[in-house]
Amino acid sequence: MAQLWGGRFTKETDKLVYQFNASISFDKKFYRQDIEGSIAHVKMLGKQGILTGEETDAIVNCLGEIRGDVEAGRLAITDEYEDIHSFVEAQLIKRLGDTGKKLHTGRSRNDQVALDMRLFTRQEVLHTDELLAELLSVILKIMEAHTETIMPGFTHLQKAQPVTLAHHMGAYFEMFKRDRLRLGDIYERMNYCPLGSGALAGTTYPLDRDYTAELLGFYGPTLNSMDGVSDRDYLIEFLSACSVIMMHLSRFSEEIIIWNSNEYQFVEIDDAYSTGSSIMPQKKNPDIAELVRGKTGRVYGALMSLLTAMKGIPLAYNKDMQEDKELAFDAMDTVKGCIALFTGMLSTMKFHTETMRASANNGFTNATDAADYLVNHGVPFRDAHGIVGQIVLFCIEKGIAIDDMSLAELKEISPVFEEDIYEAISMETCVNKRLTVGAPGKAAMEQVIAQERAWLNEKKQG
Ligand code: ARG
Repeated sequence: MAQLWGGRFTKETDKLVYQFNASISFDKKFYRQDIEGSIAHVKMLGKQGILTGEETDAIVNCLGEIRGDVEAGRLAITDEYEDIHSFVEAQLIKRLGDTGKKLHTGRSRNDQVALDMRLFTRQEVLHTDELLAELLSVILKIMEAHTETIMPGFTHLQKAQPVTLAHHMGAYFEMFKRDRLRLGDIYERMNYCPLGSGALAGTTYPLDRDYTAELLGFYGPTLNSMDGVSDRDYLIEFLSACSVIMMHLSRFSEEIIIWNSNEYQFVEIDDAYSTGSSIMPQKKNPDIAELVRGKTGRVYGALMSLLTAMKGIPLAYNKDMQEDKELAFDAMDTVKGCIALFTGMLSTMKFHTETMRASANNGFTNATDAADYLVNHGVPFRDAHGIVGQIVLFCIEKGIAIDDMSLAELKEISPVFEEDIYEAISMETCVNKRLTVGAPGKAAMEQVIAQERAWLNEKKQG
């Protein structure tokens, strides 16, 4: 058992208590951030004359060596230390003796861990954003290739009106775009440095908090030391954004599972992204999509867990906050893994455009347009709705589509129909006449695609 405290204790910590309390098994994940934070802290102590130039250089160099040794696998982070902070400090003292003992001047583990977690989360926000950018560019490519690929649009999972594959994909583009914007907002709010908050009430040393904030790439220091050590809002916001990303991925997965089913056959998932059955030789299952859908629950779980942990914590730091890590780390890895795999699955998926088209033809998806035709010829909409209802019933009995009816049959139900009805209810007309902003008509769609392409490129550069 290696602890940073013990002076005021007369007894050894109970072994089970030690294990229950220790966090090294999971906080070793941010050893890099811990060392980076310590280097910035020591540089600032040197600049302020709290440490000598020699001491500063010695500690900074030694911290760099420790990091190098861990990275190269020469130094293992073992469970004999309580947490990653104790591990790094113990290594420093082992190598530098008394000089190493000066590292923690003007600092508490409370502001240290607040900093480490924030640095780690900030990097995760950026990484998640990069993965979403890749997913968006795959979606946009599909959109560009399929502005004329007609498919049924659904409500209640019942065929409703024809759309295009570009339009359907475009809906997901908008969702993941908002997810990226959300991550950007979170970054802006979280990018303030808690280091220098001390245990809760700052410190009497003349620390330069602006300087450490700058060294670590923050916009500035946090403005209340009690809040600095006990704020986990940023992490809750990130887990919330991750939950929304997972919700979007899960919906999309569900859609792909349906489209890939034997009944629909709108798509075929590539062999590399499918799995087989141990007993049924014919099977090719959409396991990746199912797993993405299934893993959504654990990300929601991490969010619920942290919200619940935080709701009863009085100011400032309390040990409950150590619970911000394990599930959050799991959620972060889960989201990144899911986005990356989903992107691979989508970019290799085959679209059966003929099947989509045939499905749109067969489900009365042009019934609204037939009613609109009557309206354009002076029939009030409610009456037109009734007339087309009769037409649909007629077609269902005969097992045909509206387009298959002869003009004489149509005229029998309403004399308003003329030869141009066929043109008016063709799939192409139904789609391409829908030209309001955001609608599937080719011209409207192309404008949106151009706009989104520009946004994606601009974001890449910016
Ligand atoms: N392992 C602790 C955590 O993750 C570090 C902070 C310890 N601070 C304390 N006052 N015991 O929250």
